[in-house]
Amino acid sequence: MAHNSSTEDIERILIGPERLHEIVVDMAEKIDAYYENRGGRLLLLGILKGSVVFMGDLMKALSLPVEIDFMKVSSYGSGTSSGGAVNILLDLYRRDLPQTDILIVEDIIDSGRTLSYLVNYLTLKGARSVRTCTLLDKPDRREVPFNADWVGQEIPNEFVVGYGLDYDEKYRALPYVGILKPSVYSK
Ligand code: PRP
Repeated sequence: MAHNSSTEDIERILIGPERLHEIVVDMAEKIDAYYENRGGRLLLLGILKGSVVFMGDLMKALSLPVEIDFMKVSSYGSGTSSGGAVNILLDLYRRDLPQTDILIVEDIIDSGRTLSYLVNYLTLKGARSVRTCTLLDKPDRREVPFNADWVGQEIPNEFVVGYGLDYDEKYRALPYVGILKPSVYSK
Protein backbone atom coordinates (compact mmCIF):
# COMPACT_ATOMS: atom_id res chain seq x y z
CA MET A 1 0.00 0.00 0.00
CA ALA A 2 1.31 3.46 -0.83
CA HIS A 3 2.46 5.46 2.19
CA ASN A 4 0.41 8.40 1.12
CA SER A 5 -2.07 8.59 -1.69
CA SER A 6 -0.77 12.04 -2.70
CA THR A 7 2.76 11.00 -3.66
CA GLU A 8 1.93 11.16 -7.35
CA ASP A 9 1.67 14.95 -6.94
CA ILE A 10 5.36 15.19 -6.00
CA GLU A 11 7.79 16.11 -8.77
CA ARG A 12 10.88 15.07 -6.82
CA ILE A 13 12.16 14.62 -3.31
CA LEU A 14 14.27 17.59 -2.18
CA ILE A 15 15.24 16.34 1.31
CA GLY A 16 14.76 12.67 2.13
CA PRO A 17 14.12 11.10 5.55
CA GLU A 18 17.78 10.29 6.25
CA ARG A 19 18.98 13.80 5.47
CA LEU A 20 16.11 15.23 7.56
CA HIS A 21 17.27 13.09 10.48
CA GLU A 22 20.84 14.34 10.06
CA ILE A 23 19.66 17.96 10.00
CA VAL A 24 17.61 17.45 13.17
CA VAL A 25 20.40 15.70 15.09
CA ASP A 26 22.97 18.28 14.04
CA MET A 27 20.73 21.19 15.02
CA ALA A 28 19.82 19.55 18.34
CA GLU A 29 23.52 19.25 19.22
CA LYS A 30 24.07 22.94 18.55
CA ILE A 31 20.97 23.95 20.51
CA ASP A 32 21.97 21.72 23.45
CA ALA A 33 25.41 23.32 23.50
CA TYR A 34 23.98 26.83 23.35
CA TYR A 35 21.46 26.44 26.18
CA GLU A 36 23.53 24.21 28.43
CA ASN A 37 24.22 25.98 31.74
CA ARG A 38 22.03 28.97 30.92
CA GLY A 39 19.85 28.28 33.93
CA GLY A 40 16.46 29.32 32.54
CA ARG A 41 13.46 27.24 31.53
CA LEU A 42 13.74 26.30 27.88
CA LEU A 43 10.46 26.50 26.01
CA LEU A 44 10.15 25.15 22.48
CA LEU A 45 7.46 27.28 20.88
CA GLY A 46 6.09 25.70 17.72
CA ILE A 47 4.26 27.87 15.23
CA LEU A 48 1.24 25.94 14.04
CA LYS A 49 0.75 24.06 11.95
CA GLY A 50 3.76 23.51 9.71
CA SER A 51 6.31 23.12 12.52
CA VAL A 52 4.74 20.15 14.30
CA VAL A 53 6.61 17.34 12.55
CA PHE A 54 10.00 19.05 12.78
CA MET A 55 9.35 20.05 16.39
CA GLY A 56 8.35 16.52 17.35
CA ASP A 57 11.63 15.17 15.98
CA LEU A 58 13.73 18.05 17.35
CA MET A 59 12.43 17.70 20.90
CA LYS A 60 13.27 13.99 20.88
CA ALA A 61 16.80 14.70 19.64
CA LEU A 62 17.56 17.30 22.32
CA SER A 63 19.28 16.17 25.50
CA LEU A 64 18.21 19.20 27.52
CA PRO A 65 14.87 19.15 29.30
CA VAL A 66 12.37 21.29 27.42
CA GLU A 67 8.81 22.45 27.80
CA ILE A 68 6.62 22.90 24.76
CA ASP A 69 3.92 25.28 23.70
CA PHE A 70 2.38 26.54 20.49
CA MET A 71 1.23 29.72 18.84
CA LYS A 72 -0.80 30.11 15.71
CA VAL A 73 -0.54 33.17 13.55
CA SER A 74 -1.68 34.25 10.13
CA SER A 75 0.01 36.75 7.90
CA TYR A 76 -1.86 39.65 6.40
CA GLY A 77 0.12 38.93 3.24
CA SER A 78 2.57 41.18 1.51
CA GLY A 79 1.81 44.51 -0.09
CA THR A 80 -0.63 45.60 2.60
CA SER A 81 -0.33 48.55 4.92
CA SER A 82 0.07 46.23 7.91
CA GLY A 83 3.76 47.02 8.21
CA GLY A 84 4.61 43.35 8.52
CA ALA A 85 2.18 42.66 11.35
CA VAL A 86 0.60 39.26 11.71
CA ASN A 87 -2.68 38.15 13.25
CA ILE A 88 -2.26 36.18 16.46
CA LEU A 89 -4.83 33.38 16.35
CA LEU A 90 -3.47 31.46 19.37
CA ASP A 91 -1.40 33.39 21.87
CA LEU A 92 1.15 32.28 24.47
CA TYR A 93 0.14 32.65 28.11
CA ARG A 94 2.82 32.12 30.75
CA ARG A 95 3.33 33.80 34.08
CA ASP A 96 7.04 33.01 34.18
CA LEU A 97 8.18 34.60 30.91
CA PRO A 98 11.02 36.50 32.66
CA GLN A 99 12.49 33.10 33.60
CA THR A 100 11.78 31.50 30.21
CA ASP A 101 14.16 31.12 27.29
CA ILE A 102 11.96 30.79 24.21
CA LEU A 103 13.15 28.92 21.15
CA ILE A 104 10.67 29.48 18.33
CA VAL A 105 10.50 26.45 16.04
CA GLU A 106 9.48 27.02 12.42
CA ASP A 107 9.26 24.78 9.39
CA ILE A 108 10.15 27.50 6.88
CA ILE A 109 11.05 31.16 6.60
CA ASP A 110 9.74 32.86 3.51
CA SER A 111 9.12 36.64 3.63
CA GLY A 112 10.49 36.73 7.18
CA ARG A 113 7.38 38.55 8.44
CA THR A 114 6.17 35.86 10.85
CA LEU A 115 9.43 35.43 12.76
CA SER A 116 10.44 39.05 12.65
CA TYR A 117 7.09 39.96 14.23
CA LEU A 118 7.09 37.12 16.77
CA VAL A 119 10.61 37.76 18.06
CA ASN A 120 9.69 41.37 18.68
CA TYR A 121 6.32 40.46 20.22
CA LEU A 122 7.71 37.85 22.62
CA THR A 123 10.60 40.07 23.62
CA LEU A 124 8.18 42.90 24.43
CA LYS A 125 6.04 40.42 26.40
CA GLY A 126 9.05 39.95 28.66
CA ALA A 127 10.63 36.61 27.74
CA ARG A 128 14.09 36.06 29.23
CA SER A 129 15.40 35.41 25.72
CA VAL A 130 13.97 34.67 22.29
CA ARG A 131 15.87 32.62 19.70
CA THR A 132 14.67 31.01 16.48
CA CYS A 133 15.28 27.86 14.53
CA THR A 134 13.86 26.72 11.22
CA LEU A 135 14.11 23.58 9.21
CA LEU A 136 14.04 25.40 5.86
CA ASP A 137 14.94 28.88 4.75
CA LYS A 138 14.16 30.59 1.47
CA PRO A 139 16.45 33.64 1.66
CA ASP A 140 15.50 34.75 -1.88
CA ARG A 141 11.95 35.44 -0.70
CA ARG A 142 12.72 37.89 2.12
CA GLU A 143 10.58 41.00 2.36
CA VAL A 144 11.87 42.02 5.77
CA PRO A 145 15.41 41.35 6.97
CA PHE A 146 15.53 38.32 9.22
CA ASN A 147 18.09 35.63 10.04
CA ALA A 148 17.25 32.64 12.22
CA ASP A 149 19.73 31.51 14.86
CA TRP A 150 19.72 27.92 13.56
CA VAL A 151 18.82 26.97 9.98
CA GLY A 152 18.52 23.36 8.82
CA GLN A 153 18.84 23.96 5.10
CA GLU A 154 18.54 26.86 2.71
CA ILE A 155 16.41 26.00 -0.30
CA PRO A 156 15.65 27.66 -3.62
CA ASN A 157 12.29 29.24 -4.32
CA GLU A 158 10.43 26.01 -5.10
CA PHE A 159 6.98 24.99 -3.89
CA VAL A 160 7.85 22.49 -1.17
CA VAL A 161 5.51 20.26 0.81
CA GLY A 162 5.80 17.39 3.28
CA TYR A 163 7.32 16.92 6.75
CA GLY A 164 4.72 19.37 8.07
CA LEU A 165 4.46 21.67 5.08
CA ASP A 166 1.23 21.79 3.15
CA TYR A 167 -0.46 22.90 0.02
CA ASP A 168 -4.18 23.44 0.65
CA GLU A 169 -3.75 21.46 3.94
CA LYS A 170 -2.51 18.36 2.09
CA TYR A 171 0.87 16.56 2.07
CA ARG A 172 1.86 17.46 5.68
CA ALA A 173 2.31 13.79 6.61
CA LEU A 174 4.83 12.94 3.89
CA PRO A 175 8.08 11.75 5.53
CA TYR A 176 10.23 13.89 3.21
CA VAL A 177 10.32 17.42 1.82
CA GLY A 178 9.28 17.27 -1.82
CA ILE A 179 8.72 19.68 -4.66
CA LEU A 180 5.10 19.84 -5.72
CA LYS A 181 4.25 19.38 -9.37
CA PRO A 182 3.25 22.79 -10.82
CA SER A 183 0.18 21.15 -12.38
CA VAL A 184 -1.21 20.68 -8.85
CA TYR A 185 -1.25 24.36 -7.87
CA SER A 186 -1.81 25.92 -11.29
CA LYS A 187 -5.13 24.15 -11.74
C1 PRP B 1 4.13 29.28 6.98
C2 PRP B 1 5.30 28.83 7.84
C3 PRP B 1 5.64 30.04 8.63
C4 PRP B 1 5.30 31.18 7.68
C5 PRP B 1 6.55 31.66 7.03
O1 PRP B 1 2.97 29.13 7.70
O2 PRP B 1 4.94 27.76 8.66
O3 PRP B 1 4.88 30.14 9.81
O4 PRP B 1 4.40 30.66 6.70
O5 PRP B 1 6.28 32.68 6.12
P1 PRP B 1 6.84 34.16 6.27
O6 PRP B 1 8.31 34.08 6.50
O7 PRP B 1 6.48 34.75 4.91
O8 PRP B 1 6.12 34.85 7.38
P2 PRP B 1 1.50 29.15 7.03
O9 PRP B 1 0.94 30.54 7.15
O10 PRP B 1 1.58 28.57 5.66
O11 PRP B 1 0.65 28.23 8.01
P3 PRP B 1 0.82 26.67 8.35
O12 PRP B 1 2.14 26.52 9.08
O13 PRP B 1 -0.36 26.38 9.22
O14 PRP B 1 0.79 25.89 7.06
